[in-house]
Amino acid sequence: MALPHDVKSMTLAKEGQTRIEWARQFMPVVQSVEERFRRQKPLKGVRIAACLHVTTETANLARALKAGGADVRLCASNPLSTQDDVAAALVKVYGISVFAVRGEDRKSYYSHIRSALGHRPQITMDDGADLVSELHKDKNGASARILGGTEETTTGVIRLRSMADKGVLRFPVISVNDADTKHLFDNRYGTGQSTLDGIIRATNTLLAGQTVVVCGYGWCGRGVAERARGMGAHVTVIEVDPLRALQAVMDGFRVEPLARAAAVGDIFVTLTGDISVLRKEHFLKMKDGAIVANSGHFNVEIDIPDLRKLSRSVRTLRTNVQEYALKNGRRIMLLAEGRLVNLAAAEGHPAMVMDMSFANQALAAEYLSKNGRKLKCQVYPVPRQIDEYISRLKLKTMGVNIDRLTEKQRQYLASWEMGT
Ligand code: ADE
Repeated sequence: MALPHDVKSMTLAKEGQTRIEWARQFMPVVQSVEERFRRQKPLKGVRIAACLHVTTETANLARALKAGGADVRLCASNPLSTQDDVAAALVKVYGISVFAVRGEDRKSYYSHIRSALGHRPQITMDDGADLVSELHKDKNGASARILGGTEETTTGVIRLRSMADKGVLRFPVISVNDADTKHLFDNRYGTGQSTLDGIIRATNTLLAGQTVVVCGYGWCGRGVAERARGMGAHVTVIEVDPLRALQAVMDGFRVEPLARAAAVGDIFVTLTGDISVLRKEHFLKMKDGAIVANSGHFNVEIDIPDLRKLSRSVRTLRTNVQEYALKNGRRIMLLAEGRLVNLAAAEGHPAMVMDMSFANQALAAEYLSKNGRKLKCQVYPVPRQIDEYISRLKLKTMGVNIDRLTEKQRQYLASWEMGT
């Protein structure tokens, strides 16, 4: 039977295959999981619906799951992040069902999610919780057969915790995002680098000497702030959480209210997970030519309807750059329609860091296939042994050796009697 799919064009498959293989060499942990999966088939016959960014890195995760015996269907977790050549290669070369077309409208985006769910999955894999959210709208008991789900990102985990708190979550979900080998690396170094990559590819701007305003100082915001400073920018951090704001101050960043920073910033990046962070009152203060970009999961952080209302015209100046000419005579450059700039204007996080995130995904799926039925309808952390396994293996593949505690040191840490 032909593999169900909806991708842009199968003619792109060869190019996609070459790029997927390129990424694979930087994903040794996923490769190692894949090799064991191929031998042991821990996911034999398990139907997995995955709603992830369709990139070269995700393709290598899908291959590992398939090697483990899973029957995988993939749809996009963002309308603008799909790499069409990768989608084609997954279908044509690797035999994986994909529903994703870059630039798809809202209707196709949700219809693709429903196609992935049409597969009657036993495990869901989400990046932003749209798959789980759609599944919960099904009144025909579709969630009853679900062993569990995994969630990749902070925004998704927040949504799922809210579902669990309200008692509406109908199956257990593992928060991959909260694994140390995920957020301490992917969110910080991955988002840090790929966000600047997206801004630079879109605009070819110079960061040195510019004022970059980073809204949100979670792990992603920290990454962007650190990397922007590393490239010579003056960085201002905007926070609402006093603890995080204090950390930003002691990390050496200027911290101030957005109402003040709006007038001095050259480049604004939102990574808060919340809505209308940059809005009318800020746009009105911005300098002529200010660049605004979002690297948070959803396109709600920059209030685009506000921007539209303030403007007398909008035109596309370059790929991923729209110039909003305000009625006050100034111009604001919106990147990637306010969608994740790192995935829409660049290629997302490099494979080297996604290696750890996706090893977590694959191992969490294996864990759910064994233990899902025993878990409650809650959000669970990734088991600590998985985190430790991934960090050890990653170090090994990087050629880094570390010391072990001596017996005397181990005993000292375990005792409370011994002091100085
Ligand atoms: N999220 C951020 N970067 C990514 C990538 N390269 N692939 C899949 N998901 C991502």
